[in-house]
Amino acid sequence: MTSTNQEPVRLRAEILAKPPYKQGVEPAPGGFKLSSNENPFGPLPSVAKRALGVNDFNRYPDGSLPALRAALAKRYGVPDENVHVSAGSVALLYQLVAAAVGAGDEYIYAWRSFEAYPGLGIVTGASSVQVPNLPDHSHDLEAMLAAITDRTRMMLLCSPNNPTSTTISTVDFEAFMERIPSNLLVVLDEAYGEFVTDEDAVNGSNYLSKYPNLVILHTFSKAYGLAGLRVGYGIGNSRILDAARTAAIPLSVTDSAQQAALASLEPEAEAELLERVSVIAERRDRMVTALRETGWNIPQAQGNFFWLPLGQETVAADRFFNEAGLVVRAFAPEGIRVSVGEEESVATILAVAARILDTLPIDHLARKAASQPETKRSNV
Ligand SMILES: Cc1ncc(COP(=O)(O)O)c(C=O)c1O
Repeated sequence: MTSTNQEPVRLRAEILAKPPYKQGVEPAPGGFKLSSNENPFGPLPSVAKRALGVNDFNRYPDGSLPALRAALAKRYGVPDENVHVSAGSVALLYQLVAAAVGAGDEYIYAWRSFEAYPGLGIVTGASSVQVPNLPDHSHDLEAMLAAITDRTRMMLLCSPNNPTSTTISTVDFEAFMERIPSNLLVVLDEAYGEFVTDEDAVNGSNYLSKYPNLVILHTFSKAYGLAGLRVGYGIGNSRILDAARTAAIPLSVTDSAQQAALASLEPEAEAELLERVSVIAERRDRMVTALRETGWNIPQAQGNFFWLPLGQETVAADRFFNEAGLVVRAFAPEGIRVSVGEEESVATILAVAARILDTLPIDHLARKAASQPETKRSNV
């Protein structure tokens, strides 16, 4: 098609300034994809059967997802209207920003954290405010409180934090919430909550009745292995979630996704899925322990991934992983996130990590100092 019109279509400059989302690459045959925090286990037959059993897709789904909302409401002991289901929890993040953070308003989050956070406000014109993590790679809650201004409309916390795998402790969370204005929306992203084994880590569901300004986010993508079906949810005050529903694209969650989520919550299926979560958590702990014992200084991991704080050596280290057939996620110049995948990948990960450690300068932060004490800290 030819056109005499040479002027490009006018698009918003702030949208054009941002490169479109790029997914991680697939590994070569025989390699492992450890770059998207996916669940390495395939779908349970009972779950797949239920998802594939949806055969009336000439019809739109029921957008209010009554069965799944009711099941989740029962689980969390809240009314149905305090549950909002979305096409992945990332969709709900966008909805909450659209609902609460207008043009020129601010939302605060720790950095580094989930790579989607900086883009959440681009469409609405909201300003993203990043608060650098502490040297131990956890949220700097004190600095996040200090970053609140009269334009702040949302505080976004991530525990376990993607990509550093650190958690917020119950004690720190409570102290933090006590200092948050009651009219400020707090979103606690617990996408990896099921993998947490540290008893001191916060569990947001315990605070929903105490803090009506708190919304917790969960997903079926990680522990429940439904990443490809796109289903996540938020629990919180119905007024906030109604605003998110208003901001949502209608009918985004398919009935197949709803049925797969419901099948995953059936007692027998869920027990099996959570057993897999334990296997992944054990595999994670085994790797982190081995890495620490061999001289790595890395944070205790609580998600289905661990963090190698490689700093300026990130790109070089990423090459070592790639050459060994491991696709990991490099966030230069900060570090590399390695998802916990198949058992068969473990030995190669540890071997590559040992080679990388050998190349690091003796005073590199990712190296354990000769007698480095492990201290418990308070961030508030
Ligand atoms: C911290 C965090 N939150 C939310 C999500 C979104 O997950 P989904 O949209 O698949 O539910 C992810 C995905 O990687 C994540 O890492």
